[in-house]
Amino acid sequence: MCSVVGYIGMKESRAIVLEGLSRLEYRGYDSAGFACIDPDDNRLMYAKSEGKLSQLVSRLQDDPIDGFAGIGHTRWSTHGASSEQNAHPHFDCHKQISVVHNGIIENHHELKRQLEAAGHSFHSQTDSETIAHLFEAALTGARALPDALKQLVGRLQGAYAFVSLLQDYPDTIIAVRKRSPLCIGIGEGQMFVASDMLAFAGKAQNVLFMPDESFALVKKDGVELYSFDGTSLPFTVQEIDVTWDLYEKQGHEHYMLKEIYEQKTAIHDTVDFLHSVKDRVWDDLGMTAQQIRDLDSINLIGCGTSWHAGYIAKFFFETICMLPTQLHLGSEFRYLPFFPSQKSMFVAISQSGETADTLEAVRMVHDCKMPTVALTNISSSTMVREADGFLLTQAGREIAVASTKAFSTQLTALYWLAHRIAHEKKMISLEQLERSQEDLLVAAEVLENAIENYKLLIIKELAPRYARYRKMLFLGRHSSYPFAMEAALKLKEIAYIFATAYPAGELKHGPLALIDTDIPVIIFSHQDSLIYQKLLVNAQEVKARGGHIIAFAFDGQSELIELADVVFEIPRVKPLLGPLAMTGLMQFFFYAIAKELGRAIDKPRNLAKSVTVE
Ligand code: G6P
Repeated sequence: MCSVVGYIGMKESRAIVLEGLSRLEYRGYDSAGFACIDPDDNRLMYAKSEGKLSQLVSRLQDDPIDGFAGIGHTRWSTHGASSEQNAHPHFDCHKQISVVHNGIIENHHELKRQLEAAGHSFHSQTDSETIAHLFEAALTGARALPDALKQLVGRLQGAYAFVSLLQDYPDTIIAVRKRSPLCIGIGEGQMFVASDMLAFAGKAQNVLFMPDESFALVKKDGVELYSFDGTSLPFTVQEIDVTWDLYEKQGHEHYMLKEIYEQKTAIHDTVDFLHSVKDRVWDDLGMTAQQIRDLDSINLIGCGTSWHAGYIAKFFFETICMLPTQLHLGSEFRYLPFFPSQKSMFVAISQSGETADTLEAVRMVHDCKMPTVALTNISSSTMVREADGFLLTQAGREIAVASTKAFSTQLTALYWLAHRIAHEKKMISLEQLERSQEDLLVAAEVLENAIENYKLLIIKELAPRYARYRKMLFLGRHSSYPFAMEAALKLKEIAYIFATAYPAGELKHGPLALIDTDIPVIIFSHQDSLIYQKLLVNAQEVKARGGHIIAFAFDGQSELIELADVVFEIPRVKPLLGPLAMTGLMQFFFYAIAKELGRAIDKPRNLAKSVTVE
């Protein structure tokens, strides 16, 4: 979603804020803005521009405003088009209060009506501008900043994080958090505020993750933290143990390509980590061994790619530890009936640990006293803090908007967890649990080798050929169907080619009507011989109607290999790990198509990586 960044200290803020924003640009990139306090006359100054951060950077080169306190923003539009007018910061009527905001003010219509009636005039279509005007109103008559902030947050509904810089308080940055993430980087004589600590990694020594429903007055030498009711809060800080260098592209043209190639290592790291926590894992999950032995079902939830990982994992849990598994979509969860059970566990799958829909579901289920577990890649995420327990993947930060190594490590962790539960329930031996780890490493090897084997063919022939098509149909069966869904999502999001996934058996119930020479059909095979035979029948149905097939087949599936127009042949792995083995090649193929089309691969249009609005 949007990112907010702030700096106050002895250095000039512009370069620091812009660098922070560029590190967080994965969160949104429709428009950008910067505000600072002029050190000469304490006036609030600002610049904003439509489009990517680079446009703001050029604008600031022509108009080099700077100061020792500054705030900035990159936007992912929710309310109001992507335009300079709607870019943050937003201001009060007298341009003395600036606000950069991430989240949604749900009652902004009502607030705007009241504020306009009281004489305030608005200049954008955003919900965010309401905060600045309301702050202006709250400051009138308030004894001190905390009183005004208490009043302000009392009127705002929704989930939000915002940072504000006021002309009348040049030595203070105000940070406010309700449900959306916000953290404060604590340095010596300087402080940072950001949606994600990556913005100041390497610059601040410690981080304070703001508690939910809190606001902070941040000065260069100290932080005052308050709860929304105005009570002063004690706080502890954590040491920052990451640096930004780790997240450079390291010679790759795109982050996505770097992250595709990192998958084998990420799977290894995840397996090593899981192996190392195997004896204390139930503690980490916030459950007892007895609760695990008593489990009679599993609930999984996620959004986007994480939901696809959950869909594939449903096959893991139902096959390996024979637990009926229900899969929920984060964005739908609150509107559907849910039946909490103490004999189940609710595993929220989220790379970022911040996705608003998934997080809200965790909160709801937690309130029902059912065990909640965050399966995430970010140990400092809100989901880890709010769920009863957690299980971490070890993918390393994923920067490209399209998820790659997060997906493969989620599959890894879920496959392992299914075995670990089976072991706890005495359904498999320790040796079998350990063998499952070996199987994951074999799949990781296959994943990487498959890319190497087909890389040149894809770059030279296949990507230029398939970049010409405007739509594609993807088919799978059993666990290769959710994998087909993930593949279709990848192609849509990075190449902007329409793709739809179907369970292959449903072809005859409608999609067969689409088959012609303009729509390549991509089939993701399965190693189970019965499922394979059925898929073969579907492939023949496509062929019989003049269709064009690209097959991801496993070694020895000669009938499918002969039938297809293009074949990627993949060595056999444990059948349930078939999707994991195909992952790298699928991602690389679509990456190459998107590159051929000159798409903005790391930051596809209209998207953002961390979706912190519902
Ligand atoms: C966004 C991203 C997707 C991601 C989804 C869920 O839509 O673009 O790549 O799969 O959010 O994110 P999460 O962090 O919860 O896995």
